[in-house]
Amino acid sequence: TRTYKIAVIPGDGIGPEVINEGVKALTKLAETDSRFDFDFTYFPWGCEYYLEHGKMMAEDGIVQLKEFDAIYLGSVGYPGVPDHISLWDLLLKIRKSFDQYVNLRPITLLHENMCPLKNDKKDNIDMLVIRENSEGEYAGAGDWLYKGQKEEVVLQTGVFSRKGTERIIRYAYETAKSEGRSLTSVSKGNALNYSMVFWDQIFEEVGKEFPDVQTQSYLVDAASMFMVQQPERFEIVVTSNLFGDILTDLGAALAGGLGLAAGANINPERRYPSMFEPVHGSAPDIAGKGIANPLAAVWSASQMLDFLGYDDQGKRLLKAIERLLIDGGCLTPDMGGQASTADVGSRIVEYLSIV
Ligand code: NAD
Ligand code: IPM
Ligand code: MN
Repeated sequence: TRTYKIAVIPGDGIGPEVINEGVKALTKLAETDSRFDFDFTYFPWGCEYYLEHGKMMAEDGIVQLKEFDAIYLGSVGYPGVPDHISLWDLLLKIRKSFDQYVNLRPITLLHENMCPLKNDKKDNIDMLVIRENSEGEYAGAGDWLYKGQKEEVVLQTGVFSRKGTERIIRYAYETAKSEGRSLTSVSKGNALNYSMVFWDQIFEEVGKEFPDVQTQSYLVDAASMFMVQQPERFEIVVTSNLFGDILTDLGAALAGGLGLAAGANINPERRYPSMFEPVHGSAPDIAGKGIANPLAAVWSASQMLDFLGYDDQGKRLLKAIERLLIDGGCLTPDMGGQASTADVGSRIVEYLSIV
């Protein structure tokens, strides 16, 4: 039996509520599989920690996390602490420190009841968004000049390095090639005359190494329309940090809402731990009520299993989610039901004995 050390950062708002259910599922799977076990260590970092200690995580937090096989995170950010502080000092800090430059966000419709589109649009909502996760519009570069004066100017600079752009695009080509699926690049070269012209150029350059991969390239505005009107156009999608952020909330809506949207922040070289977290935030509007949908967190746990090399168990967990949706009797309010977060988590564990 191999024991994996998992750092759990439940975080803020509904984060702890949904992470609990993911841990329940992972624990159940480990009980039924002699190949692996999990050793969970909890870190109480987040906005409450900030209000008490004046910082979002321990001073040596990154050093502490480095020892783990993976990180499982709920959500970060809560009213009372400015978002740019809470996110830059915890979530974005981890993504950047551990060079988790690949953000994998599957958009897969598991049950048509979950889709807001008309019936004839529901076929083949099954894409994987590969979001650049280390630089681009999230480089944190900029300036604030003449603060408060009438000449005031604010700059937010996108940073697209050749290394950073090539590696994400190459990762996407490799994924498309190994899965035998088409690859769509989403950019904006018409208006963003440096960053996205460069992106498009690299997409073409790297494409020469993958002559078998069928490609398309869309402007982000048109891509947003096609995702709704003809989602079957998209299989593997590669895009920049900010566009990927926005498109994956749109994608979440297509496949059942943020309560069902999972994400993995990967360091493909495995030099540092990767981090698994739902796409959604801390949902202050429903926090503390016990009604948050834990399925995004559970699905992210399934991505963790895939990443650790147990994709048979990852698939099993996904199967349990699918069964729960088909059954339809145990759904949280966002999915049209009346069940609690814990009800859904317990039902998932029950399904794990039969899938
Ligand atoms: P949000 O994702 O928290 O919520 C948006 C809407 O979706 C809300 O109505 C919420 O109730 C609903 N929702 C989200 N997850 C749900 C779930 N699991 N079950 C049922 N309903 C769910 O986005 P927001 O309100 O824009 O942001 C709130 C805070 O979270 C902010 O501080 C923001 O910066 C932060 N945030 C963090 C992350 C992260 O940690 N990865 C992601 C997004 C937002
Ligand atoms: C996400 C979130 C984060 C992002 C925020 C909270 C910084 O929206 O994970 O999608 O923009 O990456
Ligand atoms: Mn987002």
